[in-house]
Amino acid sequence: MKIGDENEPDLSARTFLNDVLIGLSHQSKYLPAKWFYDHTGAKLFEKICDVPEYYLTRTEREILETAAPDIARELGSSAVLIEYGSGAMTKVRLVLDAIDKPYAFVAVDIVSGQLEQAAADLEAAYPELRVQTIATDFTNDFSLPDWLHSAGRCCVFFPGSTIGNFEPGEIKEFLQRLHRTVDENGALLIGVDLKKDRKRLEAAYNDSLGLTALFNKNILRRINHELDGDICINSFQHLAWYNSSKGRVEMHLRSCLDQNLNIAGQEFHFRAGETIHTENCYKFTVPEFQSIATDSGFRPVQVWTDKDNLFSIHLFDAN
Ligand code: TRP
Repeated sequence: MKIGDENEPDLSARTFLNDVLIGLSHQSKYLPAKWFYDHTGAKLFEKICDVPEYYLTRTEREILETAAPDIARELGSSAVLIEYGSGAMTKVRLVLDAIDKPYAFVAVDIVSGQLEQAAADLEAAYPELRVQTIATDFTNDFSLPDWLHSAGRCCVFFPGSTIGNFEPGEIKEFLQRLHRTVDENGALLIGVDLKKDRKRLEAAYNDSLGLTALFNKNILRRINHELDGDICINSFQHLAWYNSSKGRVEMHLRSCLDQNLNIAGQEFHFRAGETIHTENCYKFTVPEFQSIATDSGFRPVQVWTDKDNLFSIHLFDAN
């Protein structure tokens, strides 16, 4: 562990430790979901996107393919796309392929290794495109290149229903920040998972290969490796269920036994059956999401859904 090393304090390990100590000391234990994403977490997430039960990625791609010509028409020539949580940068290609002379692509992601690799692959496939990477936690404010507004329209691309991982009280502030980022001539292209029957939702987060369970437990593995933890990972069970009154799928890690854990020299007690709440994935109806975005300053332009009404892609104007 690098914490406390006076020569080179590792700020990100320090924040990780801080978040873990705060979350596990809380009466209802929780951990912030952003710590799922290291190299292993990113790889696991890519695999989740391909499992049959996880309809989100597949459906969003289908919708994007259909919507791309309309999106391109709305954005016009020389548009700039900024993707938040760019991952493997595959979805954005569907949009880039449709746009007339895209001016630049700015990719923002927390996993810097994957970010550089995916950007290099994208540059090879789109030699004319300016590709700029920003390795950061996009929930914090960060600076964007000053040439951002020197070309066509600026559009934030925020796919994957990542917006559903924000708490309702945080969404508006985040969307308002996106609004300031794109300027009054800008746009927001965002993927939002829809409310639907419990069975389908719960299956998506309990895949039969157990990849979502591994992804959820990756946070425990990181605590062991990065924060001197002694957690027996198999003593925790992955749980995901739809909380319909809150409109969200909740992910938890449930301690199967009464136990004490040590993390960075501190002891934490777990009762058998006690859970760590690790993530919420909020689901929306189309009007619900439009009303949130409208409250944040955006104007709905168009919405696309699939034939089964599983997922939605919204285009908003900033003015
Ligand atoms: N935002 C996506 C979703 O809500 C991806 C995601 C975030 C996810 N955390 C997850 C998927 C945990 C599976 C498990 O589905």
